[in-house]
Amino acid sequence: MKIILETLRLILREVEESDLEGFFEMDSDPEVARYVGAPPVQHRQESLEIIRFVRSHYILYGMGRWAVVLKETGEFLGWCGVRPMREMKVNGRTDFVDISFRFTRRYWGKGYATEAAKAALDYGFQVLGYTEICSFADIRNVASQRVLEKIGLKRKNEFELEGDTLVWFEKSLLL
Ligand SMILES: CC(C)(COP(=O)(O)OP(=O)(O)OC[C@H]1O[C@@H](n2cnc3c(N)ncnc32)[C@H](O)[C@@H]1OP(=O)(O)O)[C@@H](O)C(=O)NCCC(=O)NCCS
Repeated sequence: MKIILETLRLILREVEESDLEGFFEMDSDPEVARYVGAPPVQHRQESLEIIRFVRSHYILYGMGRWAVVLKETGEFLGWCGVRPMREMKVNGRTDFVDISFRFTRRYWGKGYATEAAKAALDYGFQVLGYTEICSFADIRNVASQRVLEKIGLKRKNEFELEGDTLVWFEKSLLL
């Protein structure tokens, strides 16, 4: 098991196929899927494919989304991490470093997303050496926007993507 980061309460480590039940509980929940641009998963096989997709970024980019687990119990809470985003055009950008997060609903509202995302953002700047990290969220996804603001990203413009209105966030060290 490859541990990437530790915070006060959390460990961020590579996602593994043994996280299947955690991924399935998280991604089969319509509330979790509400603003993420994909319907809830219905079968564990879909979750397995998602895990393999996440893991493919470790080979492709040397980084990716990491599993967030509770230090005290080892419970899988969700994922968080930075990675280059090159497979889709978002807000007119086709090559940017994105930070994102997703947590199982029963763990929402405890500050875990903020704690994990802040650590991942710092890691992106300080260890991976990025000078700009971006993110985007559905305009109705208040919790996500709040987390992005709390970790220090600046809200920029609104834009349309596949019929939804999204908000672009970024933090640049060069400004
Ligand atoms: C977005 C998400 C990760 C937030 O997780 P979380 O663990 O609840 O986040 P935190 O507890 O660290 O912080 C949430 C913040 O949003 C606020 N918030 C949550 N829902 C809110 C709402 N409906 N209206 C206003 N504020 C809200 C919380 O009060 C908190 O802010 P505060 O600390 O200033 O009080 C979680 O809701 C999630 O997994 N959603 C589904 C996946 C998703 O949308 N991911 C983001 C894609 S861009």
